[in-house]
Amino acid sequence: MFRTAICDLFEIEYPILLAGMGSASTPELAAAVSNAGGLGVIGCAGAGPKQLREWIQRTRALTDKPFGVDTLLPASVRRGTNLKAPSNGPLPQDLVPELQSFASGFLAEQGIPEASAGQVWPEPDGPGLFTKEFFEAQMDIIIEEKVPVYASGLGSPAQWMDRLRENGTKVLCVVGTVRHANQVVPVGIDAVVAQGHDGGGHNSPIGTMALIPQVVDAVGDKVPVIGAGGISDGRGIAASMMLGASGVWIGSAFLASEEAGILDGQKQAIVEATEEGTTVSRSVTGKPARMIKSKWTKLWEESENEPLTMPFQGQISRPALVSANLAGRSQDVNPGFAGQGIGMIKAVRPAAEIMAELVEGADRVLRERMAALIG
Ligand SMILES: Cc1cc2nc3c(=O)[nH]c(=O)nc-3n(C[C@H](O)[C@H](O)[C@H](O)COP(=O)(O)O)c2cc1C
Repeated sequence: MFRTAICDLFEIEYPILLAGMGSASTPELAAAVSNAGGLGVIGCAGAGPKQLREWIQRTRALTDKPFGVDTLLPASVRRGTNLKAPSNGPLPQDLVPELQSFASGFLAEQGIPEASAGQVWPEPDGPGLFTKEFFEAQMDIIIEEKVPVYASGLGSPAQWMDRLRENGTKVLCVVGTVRHANQVVPVGIDAVVAQGHDGGGHNSPIGTMALIPQVVDAVGDKVPVIGAGGISDGRGIAASMMLGASGVWIGSAFLASEEAGILDGQKQAIVEATEEGTTVSRSVTGKPARMIKSKWTKLWEESENEPLTMPFQGQISRPALVSANLAGRSQDVNPGFAGQGIGMIKAVRPAAEIMAELVEGADRVLRERMAALIG
């Protein structure tokens, strides 16, 4: 069975990491991946301090193997970043009421009752979401809990590196360009994830196949590079290894698992989708993210209304998408983020089964293709 530098680095059997997907990568899913020999990473981007601690402790109760915690960091989620307000036009925040009624009109047309404010905006667990205090509170918990691996989904962990190091926590950063890799590697991280355009969620403008070798060329002599984006079976893993990656960070292939923290309608949307089933849209967070095509993405594609920038678009999308979920309409209105590999996913299965197939598939493809190609 193939092993790489990251197996020793993270003390795992196979160089396969579960991507930290906010709220979808649950303790149950991460533990199943770690127990099967990979590295399970819990997706804690939106988790306040109480939930974050609870998820870390729950993961520890479910596995005695190493695991990781993924959050987002401030450099990339600054409030009001990329506000390109035209000098004579309205500010994004001024457009919120108008676009909220646009979204309400959509819900009425779809026959979806509007969720109450309490359902849409539950009591915050600690500081307000994505404020400076929120990130600090999250990092305090991660450091107090001495987690084995910390993954920064966006932004640089520079200011926390000394404390993470003291605990022996291994640190990795997700990047979408060579430029980002060159910025975070000197901070002293242990590995970098190169996530390409094919991947689910907020993503890079560069395709995975082109991004991995270029990140390897830039920083591969300093840290191992882990490939991500559209890698959904053993062939994708084998290809990433050929491009110079020392491992893979896989999201969507684990979304259609029994343990993933998404709704059944969302799992069904993945199983039914083809390779054409995703689009890159700003309609959910205000930043371009790859998601499954839906009535919500179509509404914005066909409308003259532009989604607002982050964080204002969330004030429009959240009430609508929570309402759709509560009305049992996640599959056609809010199927969620996913990568272009979802056409390969045919059923909802236990994560251990998905993991076993990834390992077996990568091993077989590496051996058979190499033998067929070069004898
Ligand atoms: C549903 C979903 C939620 C995601 N949430 C996060 C997140 O909170 N933090 C993060 O670093 N990346 C997030 N991502 C990106 C993944 O970590 C990963 O890079 C991506 O899933 C890889 O591409 P793939 O889905 O094609 O495997 C998310 C992806 C998906 C599909």
